[in-house]
Amino acid sequence: MAEYETHIVDVLIIGAGGAGLRAAAEASAMGASTAVVCKSLLGKAHTVMAEGGVAAALGNVWPEDNWKVHFRDTMRGGKMLNNWRMAQLHAQESPDRVLELEQWGALFDRTPDGRILQRDFGGHRYARLAHVGDRTGLELLRTVQHRAVDVGIEVFMECKIVRLLRDSEGHVNGAVGIWRETGKFIVFGAKSVVLATGGVGKMYKFTSNSWEGTGDGHALALWAGADLIDMECIQFHPTGMIWPPSARGLLVTEGVRGDGGILKNRDNERFMFNYISDYFKAETSDTIEEADQWYENKRDFRRPPELLPRDEVARAINSEVKAGRGSPHGGVFLDIASRRTAEDIKRRLPSMYHQFKELADVDITKDAMEIGPTCHYIMGGVRVDADTAAATVPGLFAAGEVAGGMHGANRLGGNSLSDLLVFGRRAGIGAAEHALSKEGTVTIDQEQVESIAKHALSFFDNEGKENAYAAHQALQNTMQELVGIIRTESELVRARGELHDLNERAKVVSVEGHRQFNPGWHLALDLEAMMAISQCTTLGALERQESRGGHTREDFPTPNNEVFGKVNMVTSMQGSEVQIRREPLPVMPPELQELFEEAH
Ligand code: FUM
Repeated sequence: MAEYETHIVDVLIIGAGGAGLRAAAEASAMGASTAVVCKSLLGKAHTVMAEGGVAAALGNVWPEDNWKVHFRDTMRGGKMLNNWRMAQLHAQESPDRVLELEQWGALFDRTPDGRILQRDFGGHRYARLAHVGDRTGLELLRTVQHRAVDVGIEVFMECKIVRLLRDSEGHVNGAVGIWRETGKFIVFGAKSVVLATGGVGKMYKFTSNSWEGTGDGHALALWAGADLIDMECIQFHPTGMIWPPSARGLLVTEGVRGDGGILKNRDNERFMFNYISDYFKAETSDTIEEADQWYENKRDFRRPPELLPRDEVARAINSEVKAGRGSPHGGVFLDIASRRTAEDIKRRLPSMYHQFKELADVDITKDAMEIGPTCHYIMGGVRVDADTAAATVPGLFAAGEVAGGMHGANRLGGNSLSDLLVFGRRAGIGAAEHALSKEGTVTIDQEQVESIAKHALSFFDNEGKENAYAAHQALQNTMQELVGIIRTESELVRARGELHDLNERAKVVSVEGHRQFNPGWHLALDLEAMMAISQCTTLGALERQESRGGHTREDFPTPNNEVFGKVNMVTSMQGSEVQIRREPLPVMPPELQELFEEAH
């Protein structure tokens, strides 16, 4: 029997980004004993990569703004694949969540009369993003972290969860983890478990995610019998750094375009005017003069095409590069220098200024940045109940990026920070209520623990020559090349075959050395999650024979509203195989449907 320490709590939260800490603050304040476990350090999370702001219809810059407009923008941005109830709750509650953050000590940039300043972002009709320069995610995380610690949570840092535990009825009731430092096992018993593990970016070669983004929560849910939805919908943020190679994928905030930055190809052409789809034609300016007027007085609501939603901009950049009009290192140019004063740039985009100066030796107050798409976010995720954040397996909850539905086929920038505040809080409430209503104590099934530990340790016994790093690199190549921004059936079929082979390789990865801080072992465990999730993404991409948001099929270049616009792609485990099925989207009530007709 493997040795391990045990902790029993009411609510266990896996992940210490914004969603996890917001959930923890709420559950703990409700009187549930609450623990947060994270594989990295507290305060180090992808949340900080939402740099440009948190979207909330506060109406501070445009009094005309309200939740209905935000709801409509979000649904249209998500190409109507969103769970309407999540989008409604999100739009209605995000202003309160931002104000609450302010009460907890968050600093925001200010309007001249002292209210929270809001900036423009793609797909948002009004300037809606509350921000602190280009460090909003960091400020949000700092604030919720203080709050959570203040209300008395327990924190377990640098501890990777490998599997969830279930009771005899199949309800989730804990988790098994490994301390990264010692390699020893740690077991949690919990009446409710909240997944808040973020995204999956590390299954791609170029990503804004750092090493933690390996789809752990998605995989834990899948292995515990929960449904995932729309895993094919992956967001490639249009503006990642592409040079130097060591900085490739690093995020360049959409705040640059929100503040007036323009995109140009190597012929100095402002090419986005050539890529305005019919879907957004009515609200997008089609001449440079009109676009510039919008920036100046913002009374004309035909937005510049640089502020189209991210899926549209990423595809346009991809096409320019493919057509041979790209920049020297295979991207395009993003120019803010000719649009704003140096003082403005340094004040409003300080991180971007430093990032380019330090990493690429480019002064963005003088020269254009070279940028290209980078895998940033997954819209798909754990299927949840909108109001309670409950997953389809009792005892399990999910919030933030790991949860699916809220953003449909494409997320608008700034909606992730508001999402994690709104649904982090709701998950905290849902999990605490569920735990506090359950009588008795949690009983841990030792056999399950033993078998999970045995499996985790089996990598030390594998005798083959397979190496975790090589297998990870092969996975990233397959996903980047065959399941990237533009997809097609023949490549997806190839990807499915390659993933099958890679899965076999991942199973026999052999790890050398000891259990004490052994990154190779941890990567072998992360790889299991990435393999499972890559399969979900690839199966979803094959099955969704249309183009919608963050899923573009070259062989089905338009949306198919009659068939695929009406369904979620649901992936789940059947035995040891990942299976996919279609299920109807929840139907929007008539009073919300009217909002789209009115606008039309
Ligand atoms: O571009 C950005 O600042 C990212 C924001 C987001 O992903 O919401």
